[in-house]
Amino acid sequence: CGIVGYVGWRGAQEVLVNGLRRLEYRGYDSAGVAVVDGKGGLEVHRAAGPLDNLVAVLPEDGAVGSVSGSSAALRATTGMGHTRWATHGPPTDRNAHPHRDATGKVAVVHNGIIENFAALRAELEAEGVELASDTDTEVAAHLVARAFSADPDGGLTAAVRATVARLEGAFTLVFTHADRPDEIVAARRSSPLVVGVGQGEMFVASDVAAFIDHTRDAVELGQDQVVTLTADGAVVTDFHGETARTRPFHVDWDIAAAEKGGHDFFMLKEIEEQPASLADTLRGHLVDGRVVLDEQRLSDQELRDIDKVFVVACGTAYHAGLLAKYAIEHWCRIPVEVEVASEFRYRDPVLDRSTLVVAISQSGETADTLEAVRHAREQKARVLAICNTNGAQIPRESDAVLYTHAGPEVGVAATKTFTAQVIACYLVGLALAQTFGTKYADEVAREYAELESSADAVARVLEAVVEPTRALARDLAPSKAVLFLGRHVGFPVALEGALKLKELAYMHAEGFAAGELKHGPIALIEQDLPVVVVMPSPKGRAILHQKLLSNIREIQARGARTIVVAEEGDETVRPFAEHLIEVPAVSTLLQPLVASIPLQVFAAEVARARGYDVDKPRNLAKSVTVE
Ligand code: G6P
Repeated sequence: CGIVGYVGWRGAQEVLVNGLRRLEYRGYDSAGVAVVDGKGGLEVHRAAGPLDNLVAVLPEDGAVGSVSGSSAALRATTGMGHTRWATHGPPTDRNAHPHRDATGKVAVVHNGIIENFAALRAELEAEGVELASDTDTEVAAHLVARAFSADPDGGLTAAVRATVARLEGAFTLVFTHADRPDEIVAARRSSPLVVGVGQGEMFVASDVAAFIDHTRDAVELGQDQVVTLTADGAVVTDFHGETARTRPFHVDWDIAAAEKGGHDFFMLKEIEEQPASLADTLRGHLVDGRVVLDEQRLSDQELRDIDKVFVVACGTAYHAGLLAKYAIEHWCRIPVEVEVASEFRYRDPVLDRSTLVVAISQSGETADTLEAVRHAREQKARVLAICNTNGAQIPRESDAVLYTHAGPEVGVAATKTFTAQVIACYLVGLALAQTFGTKYADEVAREYAELESSADAVARVLEAVVEPTRALARDLAPSKAVLFLGRHVGFPVALEGALKLKELAYMHAEGFAAGELKHGPIALIEQDLPVVVVMPSPKGRAILHQKLLSNIREIQARGARTIVVAEEGDETVRPFAEHLIEVPAVSTLLQPLVASIPLQVFAAEVARARGYDVDKPRNLAKSVTVE
């Protein structure tokens, strides 16, 4: 979920709605805003569905000057908003945030899960409180209202502190109180929260994108901190009221990075940004012939002692992790296992201080990955994070960090952050190889230069394939299912191509290791089924190329429509490809970068042709802060 709060001099409603627009990637099942009007009133509007449904029910500017409650709402300069990804209770108006207590004085928005809500709910009900929603969140509003009445002198802050002490689970909450129109109070545990520092105005949000229009000065809140915001500043304490340390920072990207820039969808813009995001992710990481990470709290000796690597991640980041295995094993000669983060800790993996766990997460806040990191650390393993969000929870809890510099990614389906994660994994492979001594400095420098060439290669793919792939996508949009085949580094590409299509086009799509075709999936091949085949290089991987060529013939003989992604100049595939997508010849490890691009475009364009929202696929959220 996405949350935003504001205290200042502007009309809060507009600030909040604009902020929520930037946070919609975090969930779009419902949205709501609450504003405090300074006359003891608290006005709440909520609507199921995307943010536009909320905007449709909000009081408009035209109402200013009228005597209605709405005009007071429009003048209000304090408030908060929420965009929801449903966990407890279906995505209805009734369950949309903000939630209020029974007197209607306290409002709350929440990101996370209050795990002991059933017990708290029962306690409140036993005292005669009637709950108005099915959510876990509402209990927090009632508890704060009770605490405030019991100790009005302590103000809203004391009431919030008393309440969070009773909550279990992961929660980031923002509260307002009708009797305290000049402040909002927020508490953070697990889910992210940043304060935006303006001139005579303050913001609080899940992500800086929510207030980047107004300020680039921000303060990151730590775990278990409470912040009280007034127009003039922020006071941060821990849950017990002790002054707490925070981390101020300046956001190094601007509003343009968070806008569509002439594209119909963020995803299409983000696909086109990949040459820059690859170059930006690599930049500055080769210093005096050595690969350096961004943060490194491990000694060289601790790194040299590593004898096994686990890569943990979810979704698209997991596919990047699969590619890490090829690079790290090849360069470092140590075993690498790759596992979806949600499975990792529950099967008691064998970890010790000589194990390196590489956690890959665009957001740095995915609960499954964060819990895998925590488990690894409990077992004394070392943790290296690859993350796109400065200061997010996963890098904070890791021993070493390499940031991907892909900039903000708004489209829910990952594109530029995927390729940036892949290149970052390769950098980690090189850093380890140099530590272990399995590569000499000049070899590391040569590999690094090779990685740098990826930006140009991807730029060439974008120029050549975007338009033809669009046409292909329109042609295949009515298909019921699509299969994706690949081998070696082309296998994760096939998995990622299938995932993109599932996420965006709601189409059945599966990726297979092409060698497995004959062991089962070939039974799925039928007349006119589109099958995308990611071909290895005929020169670099001649034997695999031969084998895949046989696979294409097998599926073509059974009536499949073959869409082949192959290296430029690979004439051998032409007779078997109904559609040939040519990508530049690059080294084996870079091939996934160039081959993924047409598959990203394909998924986006099939979704568009089917009339779906490319940036906001149904049921998904970009950042999943629950397990
Ligand atoms: C969600 C998103 C996926 C993403 C995954 C991991 O499920 O919908 O697109 O790949 O989380 O996200 P992360 O931020 O950890 O990379």
